[in-house]
Amino acid sequence: MDKFRIVGGTPLSGQLAVSGSKNSALPALAACLLTDEPVVLRRVPNVKDISTMRELLEYAGARVRDEEGRVRVHAKTLDRPEAPYEVVKTMRASSLVLGPLVARTGRARVSMPGGCAIGARPINFHVSALEQLGARIEQAHGYVEAQAPEGLRGGPIHFDRITVTGTEDVLMAAVLARGETVIRNAAREPEVKDLADLLTAMGAKIQGAGTSIIRVQGVERLHGAEHTIIPDRIEAGTFLLAAAISGGDVTVTECCPEHVAALTTKMELAGAEVDLAATDALRVRCARRPKPIDVTTEEYPGFATDLQAQYMAWMTLAEGISFVTETIFENRFMHAPELARMGASIRIEGRQAIIAGREQLLGAQVLASDLRASASLVLAALVARGESVIDRVYHMDRGYERIEEKLAAAGANIERVQARDL
Ligand code: EPZ
Repeated sequence: MDKFRIVGGTPLSGQLAVSGSKNSALPALAACLLTDEPVVLRRVPNVKDISTMRELLEYAGARVRDEEGRVRVHAKTLDRPEAPYEVVKTMRASSLVLGPLVARTGRARVSMPGGCAIGARPINFHVSALEQLGARIEQAHGYVEAQAPEGLRGGPIHFDRITVTGTEDVLMAAVLARGETVIRNAAREPEVKDLADLLTAMGAKIQGAGTSIIRVQGVERLHGAEHTIIPDRIEAGTFLLAAAISGGDVTVTECCPEHVAALTTKMELAGAEVDLAATDALRVRCARRPKPIDVTTEEYPGFATDLQAQYMAWMTLAEGISFVTETIFENRFMHAPELARMGASIRIEGRQAIIAGREQLLGAQVLASDLRASASLVLAALVARGESVIDRVYHMDRGYERIEEKLAAAGANIERVQARDL
């Protein structure tokens, strides 16, 4: 298993370029199942979760090809509308194929995702929303079996709780349902809007994507399209925090400043300088320990739960006590004990972490537990005195494209090592 070896203390400088959004590319790839014509996606990040989704599309019968940095998906026929356990257990977002498969073929057999490090993460809202559109769904032997032989019919959907992939799943089903669907309490994440833009380019009729009420007029069929995936706002936020925690001066390029506004507002309150360097670039400078600024995670446009661990790493060096409250997932503080191994002082009380800032962190051997926790450990290691070794960086490879190369190019002393080299 690969590890990262990092020697802390070098302020980052120069540029960090952001890749396409993993959490936008995943539903976009699933949406390619909705048409028998080719769809071309640009700026798809080359990360493990994307490879997993490509595997799912091919398993169902689609052809997936790379063409000069673009991904071409052609789901001409889908003779196996299924998502098997062996694949789904490695990526929860596999549930994103459920809606498209039912809408396109009238049936789907998708393994229910198993447990996940950060929480139970069931898909009950996905299932009930599809039932609202007329799908008959049974759950047996760890699989969701959906049938809609006469096709889906539009209807009113109201999510009890905001769900990003739940909104995306039912949106992809509704575009081919007969009649109108209104989705209320929909997720407002930029990735939902990006999916709607792709679906619209494919001929769908959607209004209100990006707001909490989305109206869809079903159409008979969708056609092929080309689409460029939006920048990854979580990678952008991770880079902004890497620059700040290392005391550097970095321009994060190819990003969307609006999508990280909740974070940059907090960073400025904490004492970092964040300036617009171009319409798609932010320059961050931070030559001091941050002030302790509290954060509570919320659905977009609130502070992203996917940036909570990275922000906590920064607050471990704050000049005082800060509170980080996680409202989205029930177990998303696993980075805290690992940060404590580096000298951080963090107390967890239910959904709240109380962080007493310290002068410095010390390098240590630590263990990544999930995708964003691993990013938090990398950030801490960039500033910790001495050497850190982070194990299980396969978590990182799920959602960050060549992150050690990008950080090294900005001055970080980081290398990927095979376990046997240590
Ligand atoms: C998406 O996950 C993201 N993944 C997650 O990013 C992100 O953390 C999350 O949204 C919240 O922003 C993708 O987009 C692929 P939810 P998702 O449904 O859709 C509960 C990363 O690091 N819930 O919005 O699975 C759920 O347990 C990943 O890139 C139900 O109870 O999250 C959670 O507590 C991690 N039943 C809350 O709702 C359901 O049917 C929000 O989950 C669905 C969700």
